[in-house]
Amino acid sequence: MGTEAGPQGLEPKHALVVTGSPRRRGVIAELVDCFAAQWRAEMRPEDPLRIISAYEAAVKPCIYCGYCKHTRGCVYEDFLPLDQAFQQADFLVVASPVFCLGFPAPLKAILDRTQQYYEAKFSLGIKNPIVRPKYALFLVAFGSPDSRGVAMMEEQLRLVFHVLNARLKHTIMARHTDKVPPDLPNVKTTLQEILRDFATCRGGPPAVET
Ligand SMILES: Cc1cc2nc3c(=O)[nH]c(=O)nc-3n(C[C@H](O)[C@H](O)[C@H](O)COP(=O)(O)O)c2cc1C
Repeated sequence: MGTEAGPQGLEPKHALVVTGSPRRRGVIAELVDCFAAQWRAEMRPEDPLRIISAYEAAVKPCIYCGYCKHTRGCVYEDFLPLDQAFQQADFLVVASPVFCLGFPAPLKAILDRTQQYYEAKFSLGIKNPIVRPKYALFLVAFGSPDSRGVAMMEEQLRLVFHVLNARLKHTIMARHTDKVPPDLPNVKTTLQEILRDFATCRGGPPAVET
């Protein structure tokens, strides 16, 4: 795609990667590096990429205080940078290892805190609390050959993505990482195809039905 003006003219496309691995040199870090390299290769220089580590963001868990049922936002302010990033993103990547068949706790806390968008939508009647539709990708790594966690995590993501105005379009798995290194050439080719598909979506995927 290079620097051609796409169908959306010069409006930048924003990618947001939310990563859930505590390890700086683990498999998820490799997959995220691969995504970042492909984003830079396939998109234009003015299309920014932001990476947020759930472990560094370390947002508090939802305490179900009910604040967001009555008032837009959250009683805790630590989610504001994530809210701003979610509002901006056109392409959302959740990159996570499987921990006990689910998300590591700091990433699960972020997912739970999106309850504020659920309440904004269903209690406060705000049609799209996140205005920008998002094309979403799940990058996931697990140590065993058993992929049951992935199916459960995809279900959780679909639930959350509904209120984030995001659509889960693809999952890329690195399986059995205790024994098998990730197939990075194959990941690279798949990411190229995904990003070319994204680039042909005028203005992103259709908004999630309400
Ligand atoms: C607390 C914990 C729980 C885990 N639970 C599972 C699991 O349920 N299923 C599985 O296949 N691997 C499990 N693993 C293995 C990780 O998913 C695997 O090592 C993955 O590659 C870690 O990602 P990273 O390389 O980015 O750190 C677990 C690892 C840890 C530390």
